[in-house]
Amino acid sequence: MTPEHQRRFTAFVAAEVAVCAAALVLVLLREGSDAFAGTRLVDLLVLCILAIIAEVLAVEFADRVTVTAANLPILLAMVFLGPAPAMIVAAVAGLWACWRESSVQIAAFNAANYVFPALLGALAFQSLQTSLAIPLDRVTPQLLLGGAVAAVVYEVTNLGAAGVGVYLAYGRPPRVYWRDELGPFLRSLALLTGVGLMVAALYALAGIVAVVVLFLPLFASQYTFQLLVREKQHLGRQKRLTEQYLEMNIGLAAAMIVLLDSKDHYTARHCAAVAMYCRDMGTALGLPEAQVEALHLAGLLHDLGKVGTPDAVLGKEGRLDEVEWESIHEHPMKGAEVLSHLVAYRDVADIVQYHHERLDGSGYPLGARGGEIPESAKILAVADSYHAMTSDRPYRHAMSSFEALKVLRYNAGKTYEALYVETLAQILRDKDLAYRDGTSTDFMDEYERGRVSLRLRGAVFEAAADAAAEAAGRESSATDGGAPAAGTGTHSV
Ligand SMILES: [Fe+2]
Repeated sequence: MTPEHQRRFTAFVAAEVAVCAAALVLVLLREGSDAFAGTRLVDLLVLCILAIIAEVLAVEFADRVTVTAANLPILLAMVFLGPAPAMIVAAVAGLWACWRESSVQIAAFNAANYVFPALLGALAFQSLQTSLAIPLDRVTPQLLLGGAVAAVVYEVTNLGAAGVGVYLAYGRPPRVYWRDELGPFLRSLALLTGVGLMVAALYALAGIVAVVVLFLPLFASQYTFQLLVREKQHLGRQKRLTEQYLEMNIGLAAAMIVLLDSKDHYTARHCAAVAMYCRDMGTALGLPEAQVEALHLAGLLHDLGKVGTPDAVLGKEGRLDEVEWESIHEHPMKGAEVLSHLVAYRDVADIVQYHHERLDGSGYPLGARGGEIPESAKILAVADSYHAMTSDRPYRHAMSSFEALKVLRYNAGKTYEALYVETLAQILRDKDLAYRDGTSTDFMDEYERGRVSLRLRGAVFEAAADAAAEAAGRESSATDGGAPAAGTGTHSV
């Protein structure tokens, strides 16, 4: 809120509160002791209590749309008790609703927005009652008509004042506000006239005790609805946290690869190229989307464990001795260990752990054979070896794509899965040189693609959360007959 808006809004709220207070005093003076005579006082007290319970059970289930049954006691007070009691019930409900607001000003404005419409609604009913001679102790069409008019006046004034308040507070044109709020307004009006007139008829026929009995299941269903909304909000928060968690995890893993690249300038582009080949091989093989995404991430992170390999070994130009080979052999296990701690990446961890294993058991670190090696790890092994062979390394020059494929084909069925070697060969056949040597992509490009798959994982979680919420909803509506219909909406700033 800008200072100018703040000033205008403060003046409007002060004026509205002053008008409400003055109107209450005037009405009390006019009605004198009749305002709270006999049973009316008891009824007023009961309606105030019902309004308070309704407000305590109120649920804000969409942006600024609150489901509450508080309008029903207000309507009864407007019709059966007159303007002063109606304003008191409205004031009690409005002030009780203040706990929802952090700003005193907005709380005062919303409270006034209960009281002023209640006054106008009650006055409208009073003038109709005089002209049509409406009896209050039996159900007649005139009574229902008067009640409907009171409800319409109440809702229209409430919406009108809310629109002016939003304009003064935030500069949003009232026409736009009213257009956007038309749907909730009509729903709220339909509920107030529908349920409200039913309650009014009951009040006319059987008095306040019958109304209290009717409110019990109504409050029970409102309470159930409140629980449902809280459950949904909880699941929403959980989903956001999971997305942040997944994003942070992949961010950390990617940061480790970038860190590794600062020691060995080959790592990042190698990982990017392997990820690209893995993804394209998985797609060409017709693997399920989730498996392709896991394979892509595994390609991107497969050498993560080299963070723990000494710099001297990573950058060595000559042949590695036995100790140095041992430290290289540890990297699949180290990478898998890091990833296995991240719940969402356990499938990726498995692929990383086995990416240097070979069909004939000649690989490392476990010497696993054939069926012991996950299929995705066999695909990664082909992509990894191909790109390693076609890259310049400190200890040897790059092979051509043709030569590398020749080596892979020679070992197909022995160390590499023949189907995967042929899959890669097919993919490379009609691709340009940049793709064949892996320079058509870079780490950040592939990392962004990994983030997309992360969102897919988030979407899977979201679907699971929605399904859980839906199941909870089904369970509840089976017992209470659908809670949302119990309340009526309230327009607030
Ligand atoms: Fe590796």
